[in-house]
Amino acid sequence: MKIVKLMMALVVGLVAAGLSAQEMPRIEKKDGRFALMVDGKPFLMLGAQINNSSSWAAELPSAWSAAEAMHVNTVEAPVYWEQMEPAKGTFDFANVDLLVNQARERHLHLVLLWFGTWKNGQNHYVPEWIKSDVKTYPREETAYGKLLDVMSPVSAANLDADKHAFAALMGHLKEIDGAQHTVLMIQVENESGSVGSVRDFSPAAQKLFEGDVPAELTKALHVSGGSWTKVFGPDADERFAAYSTAHYVGEVAKAGKAEYALPMYCNVWIIYPVHALENRDRAYPGQEYPSGGPEQPNVPIWKAAAPSIDVLAPDYYSSDSELFRQTLAVYHRPDNPVFIPETHADANFGRFLFYALGSGAIGFSPFGIDRGPQPGPVFDQRSAEGGPRPASAGDNYALLRPAGMEIAQLNFEGKVQTAVEEKGTARQTLHFNGVDAVVSFGFPQGDGAAPPGTPTLQGHALVAQLGPLEFLVTGFDASVSFRLPDAPGSPSSFGQKSEAWQKEQIEILRAEEGGYVDGAWKTIRIWNGDQTDRGLNFRGNTPPMVRARFHTIPLYDEQVGGMAR
Ligand code: DGJ
Repeated sequence: MKIVKLMMALVVGLVAAGLSAQEMPRIEKKDGRFALMVDGKPFLMLGAQINNSSSWAAELPSAWSAAEAMHVNTVEAPVYWEQMEPAKGTFDFANVDLLVNQARERHLHLVLLWFGTWKNGQNHYVPEWIKSDVKTYPREETAYGKLLDVMSPVSAANLDADKHAFAALMGHLKEIDGAQHTVLMIQVENESGSVGSVRDFSPAAQKLFEGDVPAELTKALHVSGGSWTKVFGPDADERFAAYSTAHYVGEVAKAGKAEYALPMYCNVWIIYPVHALENRDRAYPGQEYPSGGPEQPNVPIWKAAAPSIDVLAPDYYSSDSELFRQTLAVYHRPDNPVFIPETHADANFGRFLFYALGSGAIGFSPFGIDRGPQPGPVFDQRSAEGGPRPASAGDNYALLRPAGMEIAQLNFEGKVQTAVEEKGTARQTLHFNGVDAVVSFGFPQGDGAAPPGTPTLQGHALVAQLGPLEFLVTGFDASVSFRLPDAPGSPSSFGQKSEAWQKEQIEILRAEEGGYVDGAWKTIRIWNGDQTDRGLNFRGNTPPMVRARFHTIPLYDEQVGGMAR
């Protein structure tokens, strides 16, 4: 009897394991939060993108080494239409196979970038047979009739050619990777939109522009119908470009998903503010950014016109951290997960990564890590005083990677918060359910003194609530202490205290340094004394993970009396 039960349990276990291993990568949504599910479990993509011309046999070895040195779990790598379809209908998947096989050898996942009709707002990766036949495959035209190195987004021939190639790529991926899921997501096109004109002025596009805005769009945007100019006023040209581009890219994604339905996203060359000195208040579409891409004001149009695209994902190339937070706020929507597919791997890396994680990001990835400026700022940035350097991209990834699945799951449940040091905010309070975590940046932290902060603003911390009084904590140049919350709206730690605070006090029961190994927490040592006095102290660039359990006891002995009575 026992043996039969054992056998049955084994079979059930095997079937369950097999099923989850077969589950397609997908994006799951719950209560307005998102997770990238890989083999049935939330996955935190700690990625890096290789250079544009690196998906070649000669380049890949140094690309893999750079990625491994950074402790990534996923590499973003381009697939080139010109290489993949050298003659119409003839496909060469050699580079794709190389990427997939070599990533597997290194136990890395891949995100493949479809360099198709658009690459940075131009057409430079379309095959020669398309480039040289402008009659069959029309270009976008400026208002003066000049042909651009941008494909017309309203041309059915262009769209069909891209759809056909992209569907072939996805069909091939299904064949070689449908059971293994090395490839997690696909970027459809690269920074689409038009560089050179605010929109396509070709006769075909002009005819459409002179018609009404499609009803499906006005309905989705909850605006009344009419001509493009009536509906969008002075922004009509740009919104027309957005609709044409989104519709085109959405159709390409749909054709690909019909073959193999991996999650699909579009990266965005966002609109950066122009400087006041330039004597104008906005950047010009088609000049300073590709017109019609999923830039900030075009997000609603893209969401309506390209439903097969799961994520609109901003590339971020500024060091301005306030602008970064504003950008996160635009793309962090109930219908859009946060994903940063490109950014610099400089001294801001950890700060931006932790801001993104605090917004529930499913992934993060710096650009151009191979043949980059190594051992440049990312690996060795010292503070002006020669003191501790900001943690490198590799330091941050090395810390988070082993706990990636747990952090993704906790984020999916809304239990992760992060604190990032800014000028003048060396102390920050994170409010959890029933408990506050107070994060103080910089050392030494003297009694009664405000924390000193760091000269390079390199402090950042992550706190996740595991249970009512249990937390996972880590950070760089930070101490984290826990206390019962102030009364709501209380201005400072000397403000009015909550009812709980007046009756109870919180203590550490046990703080364990350790890490997750195959989903189970393994303790290395118990922290106490100097490591926990005045908070859990995280110094240096190879910080540990700590799991800390607290409890509360009454503030006063009821027998004796005191304020609590
Ligand atoms: C953004 C693009 O998406 C990348 O492919 C690359 O061209 C970088 N810019 C270069 O900074």
